[in-house]
Amino acid sequence: MPKIKITKKVNEIINKDKRLFVTTTKESYPFVAERGEGDFAYDVAGNRFIDFSSFISVYNFGVNANEKVRTAIKNQVDKLMHSAFTDYYAELPVKFAEEFTSMFPKQYGKLFLSNSGTEANEAAIKFSKVITKRSSIMAFYNSFHGRTAGSLALTSSKLVQREHMGPFVNAVHVPYPYCYRCPLHQSYPDCGFACIDYIKDYPLSKEVSGNEVAAFVAEPIQGEGGYVVPPKGYFKELKSLTDSYGILFVSDEIQAGYFRAGKPAALDNFNVRADIYTFAKSVGAGLPMGVTMLRNGLPDIPAGAHATTFGGNLAVVAGAYALAKHVRSNMRSIEEQVHSKGRAMKARLEKMKERYEIIGDVRGMGMMLAIELVKDRKSKEPAIKERDEVIERCFYNGLLLLPAGSSTIRIIPPLTVSMRNIEQGLDILEDSLEQADRAMHGKPTGKKAKS
Ligand SMILES: Cc1ncc(COP(=O)(O)O)c(C=O)c1O
Repeated sequence: MPKIKITKKVNEIINKDKRLFVTTTKESYPFVAERGEGDFAYDVAGNRFIDFSSFISVYNFGVNANEKVRTAIKNQVDKLMHSAFTDYYAELPVKFAEEFTSMFPKQYGKLFLSNSGTEANEAAIKFSKVITKRSSIMAFYNSFHGRTAGSLALTSSKLVQREHMGPFVNAVHVPYPYCYRCPLHQSYPDCGFACIDYIKDYPLSKEVSGNEVAAFVAEPIQGEGGYVVPPKGYFKELKSLTDSYGILFVSDEIQAGYFRAGKPAALDNFNVRADIYTFAKSVGAGLPMGVTMLRNGLPDIPAGAHATTFGGNLAVVAGAYALAKHVRSNMRSIEEQVHSKGRAMKARLEKMKERYEIIGDVRGMGMMLAIELVKDRKSKEPAIKERDEVIERCFYNGLLLLPAGSSTIRIIPPLTVSMRNIEQGLDILEDSLEQADRAMHGKPTGKKAKS
């Protein structure tokens, strides 16, 4: 296995970074990015890493996108980068919109383009309010929808993200169906969706009238909150509840969408359609882009109600359009690959769970997979320190991973990753888990599998 060397240059850059930038969410391990290609990322010390992070779910189609996308961006940069798209017209965003919406059913034909996930959600919040003339928004606890004022009002995954930042817009939070740790201490399917009854019986009966709620904003699979997948049938129940009050349903697809969970929209996996979808991250192929997509038939947004200077930036859209063309013409094979690779990865993770008690849960859909680490399977006490150590050890063995939730590790290689690199990455992960398991239980609870 490759051993990673940390050079003087790595340390110098990190020290300067700490002096020059506001602290954000930097990982604990010293990865200083330099270049990337396909399944791999390289740092400034020349180390090569298998990428199981997709650089926070951005490179769904290979690290640093593909040759066609890069060429399209380069060519557009030489022609015109910024065309003031929210004020003047341009052809490229029109072509992108045609290509992008053709991946969805015909009733979705209207887009708003912005520069990030949080902005895509801000637009969805504003549009919902303008359309319904209602003022409240509902969202889930443990959710992540962004960090600007409106979307932050909905984000509810960690206190530090909100502390001292209120007051917020009217947001009402309800429990997410996190069945491994049911907030209502029930178990599926015997619960009969008690969490849906809770929404009816508490927030909508005691806190806010459903007739004052503009939108319910939901992640179809919670990302930052821990890669939590709702049980089958949940979203159908929720959608019929929101429909009964005329509440618009917004699906935040920023992390789970664009084929990460095997479909154009992750919500498709639950056979439910939203009124508004938001996308970002992988849609821009590595450049900053947000897309808010509305169902046809919703009332028009009045001119001047919303815009943003760089929305539809031509250099960005050139890459997004090249990617969308590639994705649309290979949709079936992408879906099949995500399902078959995802199934193989999940099967291997399940085997690891049989061997190592430190793994409390394996979950995910398509290639949006995760393991949750626990100190004890019965108490389910989160193994936070151990999770961080596993990720760090993987880094030093050439594998990039990201945490989520309190003790979860996300496993999200580019969808284009080869089976060989999947196996190698999982070998590195398994070695690290075996060590963590041995340290925790005094002896290994299992033996490493042969890949
Ligand atoms: C589900 C979800 N929504 C919104 C966002 C915010 O996106 P951005 O960081 O581009 O503003 C994220 C980012 O992680 C996300 O995962």
